Amino acid sequence: EYSGTMYEAIGGRDTVEVLVDAFYQHVGKHPALIPIFPSDLTETARKQKQFLTQFFGGPALYTEEHGHPMLRARHLPFEITPTRKDAWLSCMEKALDEAAIDEPYRSAILERLTMTAQHMMNTPEKEK
Ligand code: HEM
Repeated sequence: EYSGTMYEAIGGRDTVEVLVDAFYQHVGKHPALIPIFPSDLTETARKQKQFLTQFFGGPALYTEEHGHPMLRARHLPFEITPTRKDAWLSCMEKALDEAAIDEPYRSAILERLTMTAQHMMNTPEKEK
């Protein structure tokens, strides 16, 4: 149990910065993710910092600049397979460790992100 927002509990802006920067370090090296992400992840990271800030209960930075997130629609241009969903979550798990986000927040965040990531899948696994 915590009072206030998860955003405050995990350390606010500084923690989101560290988390998202660590996350895209991994995304940029993951063979399943490289093909669908831009090579320069600066702008992607900037938007993800805005999004996760509000997702964790902080200020609505993403919506202020970009409007309603409509995340599933915004991901439709990219083929998001079960393998890519798992890859995304594995990068996030490492980043949560590197940002030193401890329990109970680590599990709470992963649980919510897992549900959101499942919702982003839009393509079945390719036949091998
Ligand atoms: C944007 C992939 C899950 C939040 C993107 C982009 C890709 C991508 C390729 C576009 C990057 C760019 O052009 O800058 C994936 C994959 C996922 C996934 C493979 C696996 C399930 C998620 C989840 C969230 C999320 C779970 C939220 C917690 C965002 C946001 C953007 C974004 C906020 C920026 C949207 C914008 O352009 O305004 N994602 N994503 N994504 N993703 Fe994901």
